[in-house]
Parts: sequence; structure tokens; C-alpha cells
Amino acid sequence: MNIKRFCEFKNFIKENQNVKRCIIRCDLNLPSDVEDLSRVYAVKDTIHQVAKLGLDIMIISHYKRPKIDDIINPKFSLKNIIESVSNVLEMDVYFEKRSLFDIEPKDINHRITLMENLRFYEGETTDDEELAKRLAMFGDVYINDAFSVSHRKHTSVHAITKHLPSFAGISLEREIDGISNVTNDIKRPFTAIIGGSKVSSKIDVLKQISQTSDNLIIAGAMANTFLASKGYDLKESMVEAEYIETAKEIMANSKAKIILPIDFLSSISIEKDGTQCDLDSIPDGQACFDIGSKSIDKIIEILSHSKTLLWNGALGAFEFSNFNTSSNIITKHIAELTESGELISVIGGGETIASIGNYKKNMTFVSTAGGAFLEFVAGYKLPGIDALKVKTFKN
Ligand code: 3PG
Repeated sequence: MNIKRFCEFKNFIKENQNVKRCIIRCDLNLPSDVEDLSRVYAVKDTIHQVAKLGLDIMIISHYKRPKIDDIINPKFSLKNIIESVSNVLEMDVYFEKRSLFDIEPKDINHRITLMENLRFYEGETTDDEELAKRLAMFGDVYINDAFSVSHRKHTSVHAITKHLPSFAGISLEREIDGISNVTNDIKRPFTAIIGGSKVSSKIDVLKQISQTSDNLIIAGAMANTFLASKGYDLKESMVEAEYIETAKEIMANSKAKIILPIDFLSSISIEKDGTQCDLDSIPDGQACFDIGSKSIDKIIEILSHSKTLLWNGALGAFEFSNFNTSSNIITKHIAELTESGELISVIGGGETIASIGNYKKNMTFVSTAGGAFLEFVAGYKLPGIDALKVKTFKN
């Protein structure tokens, strides 16, 4: 992809000795319920290399989705993760809690500084010129190493690139190349697993993948909506009634073979153990929290005959040990097929990464992104990446 790459950044630094301060947009929006520091590890190479070039670094990131009033709520402060960030980077990272509008560039005098949550600024999510200019005053050059937020047309990934020479970081490049390698030259049969709870959050990718894949396995609670559209009674399971027509439309137009669960583990409560039941005999008063053994066997069979897998979204309520069976069995199988060279496996999304646990290292490529991964796979232009393609330095 034709973006300003990290090697061009290095050349730029060599040719411009006056460049002293680099702003690096990272995505430190870590999942709070899961101990997962993947997004910090992802930016380590870029930060180390920029530091090695002798530049001072200002790390900027958002953290969760605070409202403007939450500025005083410690739950939304990036200070919460400063220790983890310093540990992973093996560097002393200074935390700057003051607003960019209350300080001047000369007040930032540490080698590496993490600024407070960008979403405390009203202008961050509106691609605001005033905030972009203010941010840009604190650096001489800008790197976007936050693929996972590059689908947002936000100031710190988009407007800022109009005010500073802007380049891709190593992690952003890895994400683009890792996903493109698979989607640009798909080895078939190509199987996609799309899980998670809501059809509504993945309509575009479902439409797109149903045209390009050979097998589309729909799992997680979103499969319930598809099954309900076929007339099944899902009892107390989550169904998005307003998306039943969308599910019908996706199935009617799909070029891929669509595979839905045929059995489940159901229970009266997620805290209680589940019992195996077939799709047409879910007990009254119960909800399905994982797919059952026949569905697992069917997925394993399909995967064994596939050459490429794209997976986003959990198969079941894997966070609960009584409902993580499908995730564990299927993940292990994918890891083995990948290790033996039979399968190219590309996996994306925080929840999916959490569900595969220590098998991350066995997969062909694991993206730290959720929404951005889906939009990229669906073929959308991501504003943060598009901004790196054009000449962004005005002067
Ligand atoms: C993510 O976790 O997907 C990114 O950090 C983007 O976060 P957002 O959905 O709050 O914009």
C-alpha cells in the first residue's frame, strides 16, 4: 500500500537534523476486563526505534469513551496504565496530566511522555482544526502507529496530519501488510468465522465476506438472529429482532456457504453450567451461551479443508469457564493447522484475541484492531491511513 512508511520516516530524520520531537499516536485503549497488553507490545518497536534516533517522544492516545464531564473521573485517565506501559517498553515514561492548552512545548522536557487521554478534549472526535494545530505545536514530526483507531476520522489520526510531516509506524505497517497479504491474494477454500454478540455492529463485513469467502461461519450470539430469521425459537437467548430482515437478506445474497450452529450449551443463567441441546429443542426459560459439540465438529471439519481463515468475534461466552469449550477446542485446532502450514490464519479484535489466549503466537497474523480490522477487511478506506497516503505537510 502506498503510504509514507517508517523507512521514509528514518530518511526524513536523517535529512532533517533540526527535527527533535516526535508525536506518536498509539492505541492504548486497553481492554479493562482482560489482562491484555498486546496494544502496548505492538508499539514497542516504533517507540524504541524513534528513541534510538535521538528524538524526544510524546505518546498520544485515547482511553475508553469518556464524556466531557468525565475529565475528573480517574477511571478514564491514562495514568491507570502508565506502569504497564513503562514495564512493557522497558523505559521510564513520564505521565503528563495537564491539558495541552495549559502548557507550552518547552514544558515537556522528558525523553518520553505519555499525554493524558485525548478524548478529554472536545475536539478530538470531531477532527478539529484548532486541536490539531495545538497538538502539532508539540512535535516536529508525527507517526501514526494506531491501526486500531485509524477507522475514526479523529483529530489525532486525521486532522493532525495536515500540520506535520506524517508517517506510518511499524505496527501500523504490520497490520496493513498482515491483513492485505491475505485479503489481496486469498488461498482457497477461504473460510471466515464472524462471531460476537450483535449483527448490527458487523453488517458491512458480513455482507462483504459473504461475497468473497467460500464458507461463512456465523457464531456467537449474532448467530441467534440468523437462526431466528429461519423461524427457530431461541427461547431466552439474545436476538436482535430489528435485524432479522438484514440477516435474511445477507443469507439470500450470499455467495458463500453460510454455516450456523446446529446445537448449543444452554442454561438458565450464565453463572450456571450449561447442558447440551439441539437447535430445535432449547429448553424453556434457557438461553444459549456457547455452541454445542456437533457445531464444534462441523466447524473443525470445515477448517480442516480450508486454506485461509479470517476470524473476528467470539464463538460463545468464553469469559465464563463453563462456556469456553468451543473457543478452546477450535482455537487449538486452528493453531495446529497453522503450525503445520495447512492454514493461513488471520485473527482480529480484542475479544477474539482474548478468547485465543496463549495461542496468539501460533497464528499467521493477529490484529490488535476490532472495528478498524473489520472496516479494512470490508474494503473501506480508513481516514487515518488515507491521510498518510497524500502529501500532508503544508508549507
Ligand atoms: C478500539 O478499541 O477498537 C479502538 O481503540 C477504537 O476505540 P473506539 O471504538 O472507542 O473509537
